[in-house]
Amino acid sequence: MPDTSPLFTPFRLGALTLRNRFVMPAMQRGMCDEGSPKPELAAYYARRAEGGVPLIIGESAAIDHPSATVQPNAAWLTAKTAGGWARCVEAVRAAGGAMLLQLWHEGAVRNDGHALSPSGRVHPGKANGRAMTRAEMAAIGEGFVRSARIAREIGAAGIEVHCAHGYLLDQFLWHGSNVREDGYGGPDIADRVRFPAEIVRAIRAECGPDFVISLRFSQWKEVDYGAKVAADTAELQRMTVTLREAGVDVLHCSTRRFWEAEWPGDNRNLAGWVRALGGLPTITVGSVGLDTDVMTTFSEGKDPGSRIPEAVADLGARIADGEFDLVAIGRALIGDPDFVTKLESGDYRAVRTFVRADLGKLEWDASIVEEAHQPVR
Ligand SMILES: Cc1cc2nc3c(=O)[nH]c(=O)nc-3n(C[C@H](O)[C@H](O)[C@H](O)COP(=O)(O)O)c2cc1C
Repeated sequence: MPDTSPLFTPFRLGALTLRNRFVMPAMQRGMCDEGSPKPELAAYYARRAEGGVPLIIGESAAIDHPSATVQPNAAWLTAKTAGGWARCVEAVRAAGGAMLLQLWHEGAVRNDGHALSPSGRVHPGKANGRAMTRAEMAAIGEGFVRSARIAREIGAAGIEVHCAHGYLLDQFLWHGSNVREDGYGGPDIADRVRFPAEIVRAIRAECGPDFVISLRFSQWKEVDYGAKVAADTAELQRMTVTLREAGVDVLHCSTRRFWEAEWPGDNRNLAGWVRALGGLPTITVGSVGLDTDVMTTFSEGKDPGSRIPEAVADLGARIADGEFDLVAIGRALIGDPDFVTKLESGDYRAVRTFVRADLGKLEWDASIVEEAHQPVR
């Protein structure tokens, strides 16, 4: 039986004391009505907190700016939807957990012809919409801050800035989608991180020192699994130190399989490198408890197999080594809300393995992703 004890030690994250190392990451579940979480979404989050997860991150919520998304069933975080989110925060608190709300803008992925983004492109081979003016950047930055203020007002422990997977702020980070020449883009990572860092700094100034700010980023994009925001460790260090200095508390390093080394010659994954170089706590994520990654679930509709003992042994050892601090579990927690409790008791055989059908009908717009993964590219 692998030693799981490192995974069940407390961790201090800003003003929060978490009783173990597990996090539920943001996952859109289609349980919103006109952007506002329905009561069943609050119950779904609370059930995972009851199942032993001390930190729940709400599904991506569009920020308070009209350009943020046109996805029909998306969540929003605005004055109008604050009550629905307050119910989620309170339900999670009553179940013994804390909640961060994820702030999101889809940028160039918006599919109605009116997308705003750093350079009017999703990736080097796909134009969409147009480049934002500096005035539009300022207005969108204010939208992030307004939504963060609402999160604080309704009692959320903090927010997570969605800077991953090819959405707006990731489009700023990645040279493949950001060729601006105004100090906010181009070949230098210091320029590409400037806008996300300014947003973090403004949220920190507005929401105070005890409000947790997580920032989620990924090297991979839905449109390019092999992309690298940071080409090497020097770039990764420049980017993460800038974000730390702007006021980020924790970096959520999104990978598709947590056990993969980020660069050859060293076993550390992305969260491991970021923790070492950026001097901040990190969250790892990617196929915990499962043998296939989330994009395989989305694009092939394939049911994953279970992969628990090896994952638990590996995660426990890496936490004990100080490689990273927290572990996010996505699909496995959709499949079984008691996943963490069952890991703690060692009753792996009792875990109900996630199946693709648990997601129901996906509202996610796959067209841009499918097009990007055509064999010609
Ligand atoms: C149905 C579904 C919706 C998701 N929605 C979001 C989202 O809103 N924001 C986000 O950052 N990631 C989202 N993700 C990615 C997850 O947060 C997570 O990174 C991914 O599922 C990998 O973890 P897993 O392998 O444990 O499932 C979503 C994943 C799923 C399965």
